[in-house]
Amino acid sequence: RLVYVLNGPNLNLLGKRQPHIYGSETLADVEASCRALAGELGLEIRFHQSNREYEIIDWIHEARETAGGLVINPAAFTHTSVAILDALNTFDPPVIEVHISNVHKREAFRHHSYVSLRADGVIAGLGTQGYGLALRRIAQLIDAKT
Ligand code: DQA
Repeated sequence: RLVYVLNGPNLNLLGKRQPHIYGSETLADVEASCRALAGELGLEIRFHQSNREYEIIDWIHEARETAGGLVINPAAFTHTSVAILDALNTFDPPVIEVHISNVHKREAFRHHSYVSLRADGVIAGLGTQGYGLALRRIAQLIDAKT
């Protein structure tokens, strides 16, 4: 019941970064609420953020060995990274893609996601609540399998 929660570039500035788009909660707040919810759901989580594409890829590789699911907000790499898609395609358990903002309401370049070609579900525009909803879904999918 281990779940990775991975966050891409610039999300370290959550709360300070364009708060009219991303809200005022920090990534530390998001991590704390994910941890609290994970406790309720009986999940163990590894929560990471990086501005470097390779680190995200390395965490996906690490998750392959141990995790029962993965939640990812790839941030700008969503729209650019074939390498993250390829890494996710080596990972069999459930994957949920999360975007804090509604990417479909924004610039056209945010409408395409490489990661969506692999994700089992996509949440966008529900703010930081999307992370909790994604964890609930992963817990459900893990329960359904066991
Ligand atoms: C984002 C949306 C992306 O387009 C953007 O590059 C981000 C954050 C979101 O959570 O809404 O950095 O993934």
